[in-house]
Amino acid sequence: MDYQVIIPAAGSGKRMGAGHNKLFLKLGKRPIILHTMDVFTADPNCRKVILVIQHNDEEYFKEILEDVDHSPKIQLVYGGNERQDSVYNGLKAAYADGIILVHDGARPFIRLKTISQLVRSAVESGAAIAAVPVKDTIKKAVGHEVVETVERSSLWQVQTPQAFRFSVLLNAHEQARNECFLGTDEASLVERTSHTVKIVESDYDNIKLTTPEDLYFAEAIMEKRKR
Ligand code: CTP
Ligand code: MG
Repeated sequence: MDYQVIIPAAGSGKRMGAGHNKLFLKLGKRPIILHTMDVFTADPNCRKVILVIQHNDEEYFKEILEDVDHSPKIQLVYGGNERQDSVYNGLKAAYADGIILVHDGARPFIRLKTISQLVRSAVESGAAIAAVPVKDTIKKAVGHEVVETVERSSLWQVQTPQAFRFSVLLNAHEQARNECFLGTDEASLVERTSHTVKIVESDYDNIKLTTPEDLYFAEAIMEKRKR
């Protein structure tokens, strides 16, 4: 079953503190964003890759994309101030049918197996997200005083990709815009439309590179995958 993917890559990577978009940092010999894109450009089921970028980064993206195979299926789109705006701009450039995935440029370790499970689930249910069960004990606090230990068995740590029927995601984004709601993922917008969202159990190593120590974890994951 084919699908298209929006890859938001228009952030500035403040928490990484590299002084530029963190997606240009290298893992092994190549920028993080190319590792992420490789998975989709190489997947014959992926018919279009919409890469959402900042104006300021355009030249550098064009330069590094020259190295990517199957580049005809890549389309560059400009992002917005918030991740949600970037994804919305990506949606406007997408084919208005079928299954659409949203996957952060900063998650280079996504597996094809998870992608195909998400696509299948989105065909059946309209909306599906990758997630892993929470491992740590989670507590709610006011300031630094514990109020409650949250029951862990029902908690999931949510990742991307998130997969949707195109109309489900577009409606959710339009409703959120009308109501000035800003979510941290696509599923939170879809949940507000009362549409069901299914979970596909993913892998703990599908990490998002957010802060500097994540680069060490990423190098270790790369090494393990080589073996
Ligand atoms: N992103 C985007 N448009 C924005 C903000 C973020 O396309 N206005 C993208 C980032 O490039 C990243 C993904 O959304 O691939 C997830 O966001 P995050 O990890 O928060 O990256 P940054 O926003 O770049 O980092 P920070 O929040 O630390 O500044
Ligand atoms: Mg951010």
